Amino acid sequence: MAVIQEQCSESQEAVVLPLILPQLRAKYDLSKRADTIPQSYAQMGGEELDRRIAAARATLGERLVILGHHYQRDEIIKYADFRGDSFKLAQQAAMRPQADYIVFCGVHFMAESADILSGPHQKVVLPNPAAGCSMADMANIAEVEECWEMLHELLGDDAGLIPITYMNSAANLKAFCGRNGGIVCTSSNAPAVIKWAFMQGKRVLFFPDEHLGRNTALRYGITEEQMAVWNPKNPMAADDADEEIERAKIILWKGYCSTHMRFSVQQIEKARADYPAIKILVHPECRREVVDAADFYGSTEYIIQQIEQAPAGSQWGVATEINLVHRLAQAHPEQFIFCLDPIVCPCSTMYRIHPAYLAWVLEALVEGEVINQVRVDEETAHWARVALERMLAVH
Ligand code: 13P
Repeated sequence: MAVIQEQCSESQEAVVLPLILPQLRAKYDLSKRADTIPQSYAQMGGEELDRRIAAARATLGERLVILGHHYQRDEIIKYADFRGDSFKLAQQAAMRPQADYIVFCGVHFMAESADILSGPHQKVVLPNPAAGCSMADMANIAEVEECWEMLHELLGDDAGLIPITYMNSAANLKAFCGRNGGIVCTSSNAPAVIKWAFMQGKRVLFFPDEHLGRNTALRYGITEEQMAVWNPKNPMAADDADEEIERAKIILWKGYCSTHMRFSVQQIEKARADYPAIKILVHPECRREVVDAADFYGSTEYIIQQIEQAPAGSQWGVATEINLVHRLAQAHPEQFIFCLDPIVCPCSTMYRIHPAYLAWVLEALVEGEVINQVRVDEETAHWARVALERMLAVH
């Protein structure tokens, strides 16, 4: 892991417990103490943190549930009562009414969804509020509303547009979808959600991940010629942008995940040359050509299932975040599992949930103080819930 950190400048700050980014301070409704972790926690050793986290968990008992996304580091995931992909964790958040506190070891958009889906008496805590998602930040409500208006001006009353937002998006974008007859999807249910959308309308506006949108649309039978890409920084720049959009069945927002963009067809070719029996397993946030060159693709939960079901001696080249790939390799020594990117980066924002943050928020909960709570305002939560519940019903 030391080597990985040296090569990933983006992730280095995570090792020294980053403080919240100044631009996030204004964006999120944070408690007074959110932007500073006490030095006593920042300097605490691993063993002491372990002991204190375990003690706080035991004291809180049934009042606490800890949810952990598969990308969390081992020192965090070992404390998760439930692990999952973003779909499974959203379901878990909706199914734990007995817990007063849902501590979400993931990123901001996941914690927001948990707040929306949980009961009014429950409080959702994100141990480090700086744990966001750069892809989610690639679409904001002003840009999406501008896009929506421009598309309707161009396409007229007959536009038949259904908005789909990927789970990796802010709550107000989910609310936008709820209000406008749309829906949320995750990487595990995107095919079913696209099918649902085409039962409601003629065209889809898909944001913020261009690649998940494209890979899912191709699987649904939509061709590249029936897709248009919307660049929010320079909309309608191409000369033939009008015709492209009029022709399009799906309009893809130009957003991406930096971790998954690191994977390439060359890596797959090399893996196949080095290990002829290898099976290639990738996440659908990868580019189309990577997904096309793979043997299988799916969400983090799907990736885990494929490996768990495989016989001893199986060989896997995997294209997703490194914490998950390492964990799978350790859990299955009877198989050969490696990450396709030789200079792998952990998801730099998921990495921000360090055990010191977990210990800090749990010990505060024991004292009755809620630190780093994630709250979505009522109006936004209402419409976002509409879009999320449509999704939960479709799956
Ligand atoms: P999953 O839904 O597959 O867990 O993916 C979430 C994510 O953020 C991937 O980058």
